[in-house]
Amino acid sequence: MNEAAKIVLDAFKEKFGDTKDVRVFFAPGRVNLIGEHTDYNGGHVFPCAISLGTYAAARKRDDRVIRFYSVNVNRKGVVTTSLDDLVPSDEAGWTNYPKGVVWAFEKRGCKLPSGFDMVIWGDIPAGSGLSSSASLEVLTGYMLRDFYGFSDLTNIDLALIGQYSENEFNGMHCGIMDQFASAMGKEENAIFLDTNTMEYEYAPIMLEGKKLVVTNTNKKHSLVDSEYNLRREQCGRALKDLQKKLDIRTLGDLDIETYEANKDLIEDEVCRRRAKHAVYENQRTIRAVKALKDGDIAEFGKLMNESHVSLRDDYETSCPEADILAEEAWKMPGVIGSRITGGGFGGCTVSIVEDTAVSAFCEKIGKIYEEKVGYPASFYMLEIGSGPKAIDVQE
Ligand code: GLA
Repeated sequence: MNEAAKIVLDAFKEKFGDTKDVRVFFAPGRVNLIGEHTDYNGGHVFPCAISLGTYAAARKRDDRVIRFYSVNVNRKGVVTTSLDDLVPSDEAGWTNYPKGVVWAFEKRGCKLPSGFDMVIWGDIPAGSGLSSSASLEVLTGYMLRDFYGFSDLTNIDLALIGQYSENEFNGMHCGIMDQFASAMGKEENAIFLDTNTMEYEYAPIMLEGKKLVVTNTNKKHSLVDSEYNLRREQCGRALKDLQKKLDIRTLGDLDIETYEANKDLIEDEVCRRRAKHAVYENQRTIRAVKALKDGDIAEFGKLMNESHVSLRDDYETSCPEADILAEEAWKMPGVIGSRITGGGFGGCTVSIVEDTAVSAFCEKIGKIYEEKVGYPASFYMLEIGSGPKAIDVQE
């Protein structure tokens, strides 16, 4: 049997007595290749689902009780709540995520007739910016759809429900990228999504002779949500100023020329820099995907590097630790491109590295990082994975 399935099933048995009629589900995390902080600005993103993610063993109940247990956060023990108590709380900790999804289902008119018991375990490193929360939301949505027969919901609906629950129940005003990548992931493909129209296409990532290396700063970060929400507000302010003259709906509607010709409409200097990033990053993402389609991986890498510089200088969502990782990577032979990925303020960089250079990359960057920062970074060679699924436990 799948090892992860065994972990959640064993824990289920230990906490809830037996595993009769228990089902096992999985939903992936994601890594974003380019298109950062564009998703709530009506721009393009280019993420892919990864083979790391969150697993659940779960079973429907006959009453209105819901019980949660996480193998990763086992010190919290079993958290019990009910369908009549769908409000967020500090004590609820991680369970606010699945609870928020139940709440969002109900808001959408998908009322649950009964509660459930759910045990989870995940292999996405905590705080890595590889979307453990989105994977948990999509996982919960997938499970609820399966359990209660909400079969008219598509995977895109599950992504939207996950985002809604994160925005409205958990107070993190994220865009759609993470949940979309988790719900719609496809092996060996990244997803080119226009968040303005929600049109998307898959783009094969054929890195012949190269690897996708994700490097975790292992930085313990706080304030991520509040800084994130602040960026969103600043972009909103910039948009308002531009709308005094321009007929645009989002910053994603702007090309570089129009932005440059009108940027002085943005009164605040900081908001102007935030908008600049949003506009340029969107255009970079479109160019990067074209370069990839044309087989020009070197150009793709160059655009990844430019994305990092923009996040570092204009958007200010990088951090000294991620800057060290990216800037050292740029100096190394065999590195096609390297940038911070995800929401920022810590988390990971993503790099495309020639196969022959990977071990020197990990060794050298690892050494410099530890010398400068005082604790080690972690390196993962990521596989691009598929979307959520039920796992047959008879395997
Ligand atoms: C977080 C959010 C996403 C996206 C990224 C930045 O991961 O959840 O919606 O905005 O940050 O690109």
